Formats: sequence, structure tokens, C-alpha cells
Amino acid sequence: MIKQIRTDLRKCFEHLDYPVEEMFVSFSDRPDLCHYQSNSSFRLAKALRKKPLDIAASLAEEFNKVVDYATAEAVAPGFLNISVNDFGFTQTLKDLHKDPRCGVDILENAPKIIIDYGGPNVAKPLHVGHMRSAVIGESMKRLARFLGCEVLGDIHLGDWGLQMGLVIAGLAEKYDLSDYFEGNKPEKPQFTVDDLNLIYPEASARSKVDADFEELAQQITYKLQNKEKGYFDIWEDIVAVSIADIKADYEKLNVEFDLWYGESTCRDYVNPMIDNFTALGLTEESDGALIMDVTMPDDDKPMPPVMLRKSSGAHLYHSTDLATIKQRMEEYNPDEMWYFTDARQALHFEQVFRAARKTGLVKEKTKLAHYPFGTVNGKDGKPFKTREGGTMQLKDLISLVTEAAEKLLSDGAKSADKDAARKVGVAALKYGDLMCNRTRNYIFDIDKFLQFDGKTGSYLLYTLVRIRSIFAKLGDSTDIDIEGVKVTSDLERNILLKMEMLANAYHQTYEEKLPNYICDALFELANSFNVFYGSCRIIDEPDVQKRSTWIALCKITEKMLEQTLDVLGIETVSAM
Ligand code: ARG
Repeated sequence: MIKQIRTDLRKCFEHLDYPVEEMFVSFSDRPDLCHYQSNSSFRLAKALRKKPLDIAASLAEEFNKVVDYATAEAVAPGFLNISVNDFGFTQTLKDLHKDPRCGVDILENAPKIIIDYGGPNVAKPLHVGHMRSAVIGESMKRLARFLGCEVLGDIHLGDWGLQMGLVIAGLAEKYDLSDYFEGNKPEKPQFTVDDLNLIYPEASARSKVDADFEELAQQITYKLQNKEKGYFDIWEDIVAVSIADIKADYEKLNVEFDLWYGESTCRDYVNPMIDNFTALGLTEESDGALIMDVTMPDDDKPMPPVMLRKSSGAHLYHSTDLATIKQRMEEYNPDEMWYFTDARQALHFEQVFRAARKTGLVKEKTKLAHYPFGTVNGKDGKPFKTREGGTMQLKDLISLVTEAAEKLLSDGAKSADKDAARKVGVAALKYGDLMCNRTRNYIFDIDKFLQFDGKTGSYLLYTLVRIRSIFAKLGDSTDIDIEGVKVTSDLERNILLKMEMLANAYHQTYEEKLPNYICDALFELANSFNVFYGSCRIIDEPDVQKRSTWIALCKITEKMLEQTLDVLGIETVSAM
């Protein structure tokens, strides 16, 4: 409806010779008075030197002359209040009923995007921070795709830095790796992911106190990056073991990647790229390392140089990110690259993006953007930890929510289905994360996230189950004559308005990369549906027109819940 109102109000502007750039229509701030409003008169008043109320009155008069689905009213000091009538709402219901996208428009000129998210590190257990990146990135990927963009999700594994040298050095102490160096790569890796997960923290701690060990890890990193056979073979096994485990974790979270690239994937690009930077005169040496200045004249904060190569010759986080950009441009030529990592990496990306522009790795119009997020905290307001105070691993977090959901779903005698419990638990986890503004920290409270009566994933899944059970009860009698519907009550109007707001929220979320807009609007829709459900006995309703109208509303709500939960990356359940 808002689109139609905009179109018609624009025509009024043209007819009255008002500048159309000043034309704005929004959802009403006072739903008790009207459905939509326009505050354009105040802006026009300045430009035209007239009273806002007179302008609003002229617009109302013109609007009411041409429009049959709504009435406009000028209200002091100059608002234009627009109320849609039953004919307008009924038409909207019919339109939504036949729209496979539930009123969500495709973007004009949808760009091609690579989304860099997840970002787990090989041989290091995934932790709570990787969960946020995966959850937010997955939803933004699905949304962009739904809006018509060509999108590739890239996991960008951390598989090429010093941590690999550390793990290999640590492994070498526990296992006999000589086969790898004698050209007899074992058929199956001798170590498991649990071994790796133990080795990394040990090796990392030790490197901080044992200079020889640190030096050894540095050397191994350099050798690996030069693809020295034995080290490269060990690395391949480490990556394979790790990826299998990472895949299993992400699968439980319903997170999928199109590209399983890593820092290592661009390895052949790194040295030629850096040499080219040097040839262009853009690099300098500093203590044996190669760096690039990326300061700009009007910087108001310190901007450290980009680190391209260590004195050992090893590549760094900056260099692999730059080479990845180069590779992406060559392989896919995207219009935009989005990165979802925690806020602490903001400086890193600013440096990388500046270097990419300075060196011409991307086109002028290529958009590079880092979308940071806040931390997941415990009830004490500090980063979320295990009961024992250790880092919360993603695996443990998934078990924790699954068990909590299982408890909630089982009713004494009957124990809950494991897969359904995982879905409900993960829905709570994901919605709990996505509904908070991405840029802020939030408190992880699984009991609160799982509550049935609140702004939670459980509430949304439950609403969907409820609608599906209405259809199960109705059986064959759900076929309605859509031409025979008529919207007559506020309960019905409310649902339709909330549907439109939700469709609008898809675009707000896309613009600002803030899934909380969709989460809020979805909750509002579910809420208005449940209020309606609480007072209308759909199944027993004898009036055919009413019954058809209600069934149509149920159908669209169901479709919109399914569609939106899918965009958020949340799986649904058939019973609860
Ligand atoms: N592996 C990194 C980490 O755990 C995140 C990678 C983010 N993506 C990137 N292109 N740097 O912090």
C-alpha cells in the first residue's frame, strides 16, 4: 500500500506544482489516528513560504479527488494523515495472497557480492565470536540473494598464518612425522581434531615463554608458505581433519558456504602482488620487514602501516587479505565485498581497504565494507565463558542450547526428538543474536532466548507450528475463493500492516546490514497474528466471507514466517 500511496501522492505533488523531491510517506507514528503519514508539508512550507497546514490541506483535497482506497486528512500544524479503507485493505490481501514473495520487492540493479564471514581458524576450536560472524553473515547472504543479488559466501579459513607453524611444531613433539618428510604421506592422518584442539593452545602459550620454540614455529610457517614438501603435506592433513569438523559445526547451525577458500588459497598471488607494489614504489623496509604507508592527509587518528612481509619472509594477515581481494577480483569481479568480523578488527580492515585502493587492486566503484559486531557476554557483562571460566567453544554452545531445548520440549514421559531440539535450540540462539543490533554487545541468556512468550526464536517457531496445526485441522476445507474476501476489522488490518512493515524491513536490513530490523518486524507480525488468533475461531466460523478472509490471512502469515525465518537462516519444526 505504501508504494501505491507514494505513487499517488507524487502525482498530487506534480499536479500542484510542488517539488517532488520533498515527497515523503511513512508508516504512521500514531496508528490510533491513521495508517500512514506524510510530513512533507513542513519542508514544503519553507520552500513555498506558505503555512504547512494549508499545504497539507491542498494535498489532502487533491489526494481524495483521485484515490479510492484511502482518505487523507490535514491535521494541525501540518500533518497529512492517510487512512486506508476496507476496499484498500481487501485489495492488499488479494495482492499478497497471489504474490510468491509476500510483497518483498527485488532490488533494482542488484550487485554481485562476495561475503566473507565465518572465518574460523584451522586447528583452533571455533568459539563464540565465530558464531556471531556465521549467524549474521549467513542471514545477510540469504537476504541479499533473496533480494536478487548474485552472492557468494566465502568462509575465509584462517589456514596460513603463524598458528599453522605453531601447530606443526607442537604436533612434531607428540607424533613421529618422519613419514611426511620421507615422501610417505600416511594414507590417513594420524591425529584427530581433538588432538589439534589441544595442541594449539599449548603451543601458543609455550611460544610466549620459549623463544626457541617461537623461532621454530616462525621457520616452519615460512617453510610451509614456500610449500616445502613435508610441511605442506602435514598442513594438508591438518586442514582436512579440521575442515571436516568445522563443516559439522556449521551444518548444525544451518550455515553454508559457497567457497571454502582460506588465507592459503591466495598463496600464489601474495609474492607477485607484493613485488608489484614494490615496483610501483609503494612499499618501504622497516626492521627487515616490508611495509606500506596508508596514512591520508586528513587522518585524525594514528594509522599504522600495512605489514606485507615479515623479516623472516613470512606472509601476514594483511598480505593474505590483500591477495584475497586480488584473487576475488580476478576470479569473480564482484561489485561489493562485505566482511563480518568482530569490532576489534576494524583497524585491520581499514588498513587493508586503503591499501587495496592505493594499489589499484579494486576498481574505483568496488565497494569494500567491514561490518563489525559486538561481543557475546555472560550475565556478568563480561565475555561469555564456560562454567569453568574458559573460552566457550561453538560445539559446546550448540550442545548447551540443544540440551536446554530438549528439557523444554520433553513433557515428563516423552523425551524430545533430538533433531527438533537442536533446531529449537539453535533458533533461540540465532534469533537471540540477530535481534540485537549487530554493532552492540549482548548478554547470552539461553533460558530467556528459549521462552515461548517473549521476543524469541521459540515464540516464532511456535507461531508457525500453530498456523500449521490450523491447516491440519481444516484439512481439505482450506481452499478459498480469494475474490470473496473482505477485510473489516482492526485485527485483520493490523496483520496486513505488519506484513507490509516486515517487507519494508527486508530492505532496511539490506541497506544497513542490521538483521534486527527484520527480527523486530517478524516478531510484530507474529504478535498481531496471535492476537487475532486469540479472538477469532477460524475453524467454527460459519460466515463464509469471514472464514475465507481469515484463512487467507493465515496462509500469508505462514508463508511470510517461513520465508523470513529462511532468510534469517533459522530452520523450522513441524511440532512443538
Ligand atoms: N580468521 C579470522 C579470525 O578468527 C577471521 C577472518 C575474517 N576474514 C578476513 N578476510 N580477514 O579472527
